[in-house]
Amino acid sequence: MDRNVYSERVLGIEMSGIRKFFQKAKPDSINLGIGQPDFPTPLHIKQAGIRAIEDNLTGYTFNSGVPELRQALSNKFKNENGLNYTPDQIIVTAGAGEALHIAMQTLVDNGDRVLYQDPGFVSYRECAVLAGGKPEGIKLDETLHIDVEACKEQMDGAKVLVLNSPGNPTGAVESEETIKAISEYAEDMGVSIISDEVYEHFVYDKSHYSAANYSDDVLTINAASKTFSMTGWRIGFIGGPEDCIEQCLKVHQYCQTCATSISQYAAIAAYTGSMDCVMEMRNEYAKRRELLYNGLKNLGFEFPKPEGAFYMFVPMSGEIFAKIIDAGVVAIPGDAFGNNAKDYVRFSYAASEDNINEALKRIESAI
Ligand SMILES: Cc1ncc(COP(=O)(O)O)c(C=O)c1O
Repeated sequence: MDRNVYSERVLGIEMSGIRKFFQKAKPDSINLGIGQPDFPTPLHIKQAGIRAIEDNLTGYTFNSGVPELRQALSNKFKNENGLNYTPDQIIVTAGAGEALHIAMQTLVDNGDRVLYQDPGFVSYRECAVLAGGKPEGIKLDETLHIDVEACKEQMDGAKVLVLNSPGNPTGAVESEETIKAISEYAEDMGVSIISDEVYEHFVYDKSHYSAANYSDDVLTINAASKTFSMTGWRIGFIGGPEDCIEQCLKVHQYCQTCATSISQYAAIAAYTGSMDCVMEMRNEYAKRRELLYNGLKNLGFEFPKPEGAFYMFVPMSGEIFAKIIDAGVVAIPGDAFGNNAKDYVRFSYAASEDNINEALKRIESAI
């Protein structure tokens, strides 16, 4: 079809390199590629979803979400992040993915510079382009953390900075000093922050800090997806200043109307229930992190131990990577995550210990 049929915006983005890559996997490959928890959704959450169906809670909800859920999220922000978002300052979205999209649509005008960590999660660049913005990667230091001074320099004249800690694909967790320094500087420079905190509960030797504690110009994005192993339920949320949330709600209304009602009722059980299930998953990831890190180190791969999420971002030549794929282990090449990490590969340890052990065996034989 004639190229002019399609908008410049949509022609300016690509399908995610991650999805494309799965198509190359062999049927018996061990999948360390996917960024999806391998635990079932906890029972009390599933039961709340089933009850919602039985109770016919299957109609539209308020655009911004079920009030009881927004109240629970307001409490969560207060208790876990020290943030004072009232329920009216929160929108429930179809996952963090939708929240990112509406945040970009709300903040970004044609030609606005949008900064994000490169390597970084695939959506940041593409959502910025869809909003008419000019995405610009922030280079990371050799430990895959933000270089505060370099980031400050890039902030001059930028419109939006996306911050992601714990980070995908790097597993890096930024320190309080970094989050504070960058957020305060951004506020001074008139740069709005979109803070993507979806991996906040999966932090191992450090602590998580929310940017909105240090700047008033922050949209905080989070989701039930990773925290409660609920990726397919599609529940995320966005909190921010009241006037900004009012604008975001317009975008949400015209693209999504409301998040799925059944999933919202399940999410009430998640956010008002015990966090033991999350701690159990976190402890499992912590064990797997040790297993994969020590295994790769013993095979000669040198890299800093990632501090959060469930990823390992490992420096590796294209030749070794090809051998690993050939040996039946799926991982994702660094160039799927931006321009600055071509010689890296992302392994996810959201996989069973048996699968991690088998993958390590296959990697050993391949190299
Ligand atoms: C950093 C980051 N943000 C957002 C998302 C999207 O999350 P959701 O499934 O809630 O849309 C992901 C998913 O992998 C992610 O890694």
